[in-house]
Amino acid sequence: MKNTADFLTMKKNNEKIAMITAYDFPTAKYVEEVKADLILVGDSLGMVALGYDSTIPVTMDDMIHHTKAVKRGAKDTFIVTDMPFMSYHVSFENTMENAKRIIQEAGANAVKVEGGGEVIPIIKKLTMAGVPVIGHLGLTPQSVGVIGGYKVQGRDAESANALIEEAKKIEAAGAFALVLECVPQEVAKKVSEVLAIPTIGIGAGLQTDGQVLVINDLLSYGVERVPKFVKKFANVGQVFVSGLQAYVDDVKKEAFPEQEHTYKMKEDQIEALYG
Ligand code: KIV
Ligand code: NA
Repeated sequence: MKNTADFLTMKKNNEKIAMITAYDFPTAKYVEEVKADLILVGDSLGMVALGYDSTIPVTMDDMIHHTKAVKRGAKDTFIVTDMPFMSYHVSFENTMENAKRIIQEAGANAVKVEGGGEVIPIIKKLTMAGVPVIGHLGLTPQSVGVIGGYKVQGRDAESANALIEEAKKIEAAGAFALVLECVPQEVAKKVSEVLAIPTIGIGAGLQTDGQVLVINDLLSYGVERVPKFVKKFANVGQVFVSGLQAYVDDVKKEAFPEQEHTYKMKEDQIEALYG
């Protein structure tokens, strides 16, 4: 399993970091099989695995439940779990208790928190307590209500510079990596140059130190519309539907189960049963 020092080394060596989300046991197994560097148990699970409209309804219990399943499927991959909406804003004690559950109870290796500003001292406290933290700037979906929709962030030089300043503070607070979501490539490039810690982009262009995508998006599994920054690497939804349709059709026309799928009694026992 890679660790936080390895991710720094990867940045130094210009080796790209590949992160993929996972929310359950079988997908975690597949993600581990392809040797992704990190798994993110993102609160995107609220949308793509639980069917909510946003990440706001996701609870600590949801994150714990799904992280445990992912851990069972990917014992040798570094797992990062999102701290969900309002789980790191209420109080210091509450934040620490929640992070403790994610690490100790669920078995994640690190947590991710969205935002700069007031979140920066929280990153520092978590790091001081021994909890590895990934920051997250740009489009921060837990603030969708404040931002007013899912929009590209840092498009003008002023907001881009503000973002760069926040990124520096996040690094200084002890974060070991930073997710940059939905920012122009020029901004992501600059942040990646000024930080020693790796940047992991999603909708941030090619010049970040790594990439992350939501697994359902990249596999086209159970998602209808996807953002511009998503590339469909496979059509798993289509594979699902054709397999399921073939099963339903075979059941209806009695083509399944066949003899090879069927158990049999010994001859004498059949006679005893039927006479
Ligand atoms: O929840 C999530 O999947 C994320 C990634 C999109 C970075 O935060
Ligand atoms: Na998230």
